[in-house]
Amino acid sequence: MAAKPEKIELDIRTAEIDDLAPVYHLGNRLFTSHEYSNLYRTWNEYEITSQFNQEPDNFLVADYDGQLAGFLIGSVIEKPRSAWSYGHLVWLGVEPDFARKRVASRLFERFKELMAEQGVRMLLVDTQADNDEALSFFKRQGFTNPVEHVYLTYTFPRKRQRRIGKRK
Ligand SMILES: CC(C)(COP(=O)(O)OP(=O)(O)OC[C@H]1O[C@@H](n2cnc3c(N)ncnc32)[C@H](O)[C@@H]1OP(=O)(O)O)[C@@H](O)C(=O)NCCC(=O)NCCS
Repeated sequence: MAAKPEKIELDIRTAEIDDLAPVYHLGNRLFTSHEYSNLYRTWNEYEITSQFNQEPDNFLVADYDGQLAGFLIGSVIEKPRSAWSYGHLVWLGVEPDFARKRVASRLFERFKELMAEQGVRMLLVDTQADNDEALSFFKRQGFTNPVEHVYLTYTFPRKRQRRIGKRK
């Protein structure tokens, strides 16, 4: 029988200004080294500060005795002509030393409560197709119906790049 995960005392709370630098550095290690950042959003200072400014209540951290164990950044999306609003789980990251200790599960539980309080009817999340740990985590949380999405890239020929650059 598999061993039960060790239970640790976590404070799941909304992020404060002093959390932003640790969140940024943890995300840098998680998202850039594994290339798990999604293609249309980039992990950088602007991403974090704008999320913090726009939706501070949906920016959560897992605090382990003053140490950052993980974070979750979410956003509510209203769609035109739709009575539903959607909760987008934008970024989720756990410090590797805390892996498999239910840090992400606890963050997600709080996120679900927040989304329900804000009238959200459906949660959405996306990740790279080869991010097996995240896919396993999301399925375990009850996400279903994965839809394949293909990203294509176009690289400008070098000549054109130079011309665009000169205009500046
Ligand atoms: C995915 C991630 C958030 C999981 O965090 P975590 O705190 O370790 O997850 P939990 O302990 O709450 O895991 C709950 C369940 O999810 C699944 N799971 C989590 N990590 C897993 C892994 N590495 N491999 C397989 N299943 C995993 C398991 O079913 C696990 O339950 P179990 O431990 O009883 O088997 C973490 O590995 C991470 O930060 N990954 C890098 C960043 C990332 O990919 N973020 C998601 C996209 S934004």
